[in-house]
Amino acid sequence: MTTVPPELRSHLQMHYQEHLLFGWDSLSEADRKRWVEELDELDFVQLAKLYNRRNEPHAALPARERIAPLPVELRSEVSAKSYAIGEEAIRKGRVAVLLVAGGQGSRLGTDRPKGVYPVGPISGASLFQIHAEKVLALQRRYHATIPLLIMTSPATHSETVAYFEEQSYFGLPKDDVYFFEQGTMPAIDLRTGSLLLEAPGKLCRSPNGHGGTITALADSGLLINMKADGIEQIFYFQVDNPLVRVADPAFIGRHVETQSEVSSKVVFKEHPEEKVGILSLVDDRCSIIEYSDLPKDMAEERTSAGELVYRAGSPAIHIFSISFLERITTSTQHLDYHIARKKVPCLDRDGQPFQPTSENAIKCELFIFDALPMADRWMAMAVDRADEFAPLKNATGADSPETVRHLMMERAARMLESAGVDVPRENGELKYPLEISPLFALDERDCQRKIPASFPINGPTLFNQTR
Ligand code: UD1
Repeated sequence: MTTVPPELRSHLQMHYQEHLLFGWDSLSEADRKRWVEELDELDFVQLAKLYNRRNEPHAALPARERIAPLPVELRSEVSAKSYAIGEEAIRKGRVAVLLVAGGQGSRLGTDRPKGVYPVGPISGASLFQIHAEKVLALQRRYHATIPLLIMTSPATHSETVAYFEEQSYFGLPKDDVYFFEQGTMPAIDLRTGSLLLEAPGKLCRSPNGHGGTITALADSGLLINMKADGIEQIFYFQVDNPLVRVADPAFIGRHVETQSEVSSKVVFKEHPEEKVGILSLVDDRCSIIEYSDLPKDMAEERTSAGELVYRAGSPAIHIFSISFLERITTSTQHLDYHIARKKVPCLDRDGQPFQPTSENAIKCELFIFDALPMADRWMAMAVDRADEFAPLKNATGADSPETVRHLMMERAARMLESAGVDVPRENGELKYPLEISPLFALDERDCQRKIPASFPINGPTLFNQTR
């Protein structure tokens, strides 16, 4: 029977983490071997530094004079020439699409991957289905290969892969869909700095934040493979937004034309409390200040015309150039962890299960948007939020299934109206539920081509097309 390697024990003692050997005797030989390897890989110095930041106020906000509003372009003003440049990039196979789906729908009241949540107002299509069908529709429109990269976390990986498999990849060629898993970070005891155990030989771990996308892309070999396949740009978005205009040619076109390393979409904030990060200039570089870090007075500041000064909200839609990702993954400049206090169920000092009633741990996360200031050239494009942003976050109230379905139906109505269709309303509200599958129409252009103005809407209507 293997005993604890003495050098491991002294290493743990040196970092005050010897409790991690709790329950060693109860572990199988295989588990001991794996546990020793896992403990050997932990960077206790880094974890101690993170623990020492536990009392920091929320990500230290730079001094006020270093922050300024970010100038943005308007999508509505993008020229036909720029749009064509974006279309050309897609047609030539230079664009991949990256969906971050490491989160579970905990705020939605489910512990399944958020992407399986059914949001289609009539069809009940899941978020994953809607996103995958948009990619398929784009592949058909441009007769191009568009790889779909899906970042999962240990909590969502196997269920996500099985779901796509069961659904035959929603009609996408299987070879165009790539799953890669983000990394995790151990939870640290808020009181003592010890790493928390979930069970003997098992740390309490949580996903390392969507900033983990960048290293996970590099570590999985995808970055290098994408480059070898001629991909130049990665269109990045979050799983929770069914209205996202996936691989928008207008956005890609301006990104390419301006030779930007990173581009970001912007939605103007509707009110100061809205929970979106704010795109701004910090030391003359494009940055995002997270909503939880934006002081109330800044959030409420208005221009003489009455507009919010810091109104450039982030729908978390970006384009990253492959060359930029390569540069930042090989440079010494790294994303910095954000620290959050959380309730984490764990084993107590006596090895008994402990259900905390208040915050007992710190979790460490990387945010993808902390990469923005590393870009030497960037572009920010403001879009009409009603066309592109309907985030699903909560079970009820704001950003809930109800508001998301409402926004999806209103978007469908506007697409139909653009084709001249008479969409019946009562007191301004749609009279009947409406839904347009991405396979039927991605935008106004498809609607105008496919639907006659005389098309009658006299009941719930789903525009669909077989795969
Ligand atoms: C996020 C952004 C916010 C933006 C808003 C737009 C952060 C910190 N803030 O807020 O600036 O305005 O969305 O809707 O992201 N995810 C992973 N792995 C992780 C953590 C998250 O894949 O380790 C994914 C989730 O699946 C989700 C997305 O990242 O798709 C956003 O996470 P969420 O916690 O919902 O962020 P918000 O606070 O809503």
